[in-house]
Amino acid sequence: MKTNVQWASKLGFIMATAGAAIGLGNLWKFPYLMGRNGGFPFLVAYLFFIVVLGLPVMITEMSLGRKTRHDPVQAYKDIDPHAGIVGIFGVLAAFIILSYYSVIGGWIMKYIFSYGTTMEAVADFDGFIGSREPVLWHFLFMAITTGVCYFGVSGIEKASKVMMPLLFVLLLVIIGRGVTLPGAAEGFKFMFAPDFSAFSLNSISGALGQVFYSLSLCMGITITYGSYLSEKENIPKSCVSVAGLDTLIAVLAGIAIFPAVFAFGLEPGQGPGLIFGTLPKVFSAIAGGGIFACLFFALVFFAAVTSAIALLEVSVSFAIDTLRWPRKKATLVIGAAIFVLGIPSALSFGDLGQVRILNYSVFDFVGMITDNILLPFGGLTMCYYVGWKWHPEYLVEEIERDGIPFKVKRLWVVCIRYLTPVLVGIVTLTGFYNIYQVVC
Ligand code: TRP
Repeated sequence: MKTNVQWASKLGFIMATAGAAIGLGNLWKFPYLMGRNGGFPFLVAYLFFIVVLGLPVMITEMSLGRKTRHDPVQAYKDIDPHAGIVGIFGVLAAFIILSYYSVIGGWIMKYIFSYGTTMEAVADFDGFIGSREPVLWHFLFMAITTGVCYFGVSGIEKASKVMMPLLFVLLLVIIGRGVTLPGAAEGFKFMFAPDFSAFSLNSISGALGQVFYSLSLCMGITITYGSYLSEKENIPKSCVSVAGLDTLIAVLAGIAIFPAVFAFGLEPGQGPGLIFGTLPKVFSAIAGGGIFACLFFALVFFAAVTSAIALLEVSVSFAIDTLRWPRKKATLVIGAAIFVLGIPSALSFGDLGQVRILNYSVFDFVGMITDNILLPFGGLTMCYYVGWKWHPEYLVEEIERDGIPFKVKRLWVVCIRYLTPVLVGIVTLTGFYNIYQVVC
């Protein structure tokens, strides 16, 4: 029970929630997904899903958190004794995501270290991720994350209020450098001019998964943070701010990366290696590139740490509330477990490079489980319990407390009952079809 804890200020709440949402999903994953899926059409699908899926689900979770004032599992149990499973899906997803999130966080630390000491990029990215060294960096990243959680998260609000604006300024500096390079216009064309050749059904399901991932939906965090929210706050407005900031940073990350990538005639569709393999080539070609690179990776690191802390906090708060563990034990045990779970992902490009699970590499398999299975199922069961088994009107009442108007309540109810489950259902099926094709 966390009835007494509340955010100190509205700005602090928005920054902390945005800090959890803005992370590797915006700076690493969104640009590479966009690069792989043809640029502009992917952007449009993404924006569309943010509005028709992301916002309604976010409003649901935040108001559910505030109404019940419970951790995610208990919050769903309050709705229906069988609904705890929705919260469990979420906690599990956060747990699994952090295991590979930390591996990438480790790569970032390695890059900061490399640029910081020699002003040079990691010479051979493939060689690096193919070695065993990533396990060490994964350990360090997890240790930092666990350390912050161990000493409590009272500092999250303060840290986010400093780190988020800093991140924004750094991003603007990088953009300023990138867009003034000769040939940068091609990158803008890629981002904002329609070309459907690389766009497919897969891109649509990718965009949907990315909306859930980037806004941290169906993973308990919005419920948890909502449970610390004061009754006076306007929930729909807050959600629009957070989703808006998150989307803004994702698009800005694209603008920081693509014009520069195109200016040097590099390949935008390289996938997960976009910021690790392609971008350093850009940095090494511009004057003072080492400094810009350091700044860039520092910014990605800030974003990654604030999200990783929130990801860990999901499982930790579950262990504290439901399993009744003391915080210190919960953090150490869960932090260690996530480190161990992440080792196969860290070795996925090296020692375990030949291993295939259902035809996926270890690394891709872990991402597939969360993005294509746990999250859509979490979304579907949430719509079922909130929209059908329970009364969405109860949440409307919660949102409208203190006379706050919720003008689109009818639309929201239609979304939660019909539109969201149908869209998520379609995309879940597409996801299954893809898995079927990869496997068979
Ligand atoms: N949204 C985060 C990002 O974009 C990642 C994330 C997914 C997350 N689920 C979460 C963060 C739950 C905190 C809590 O990087």
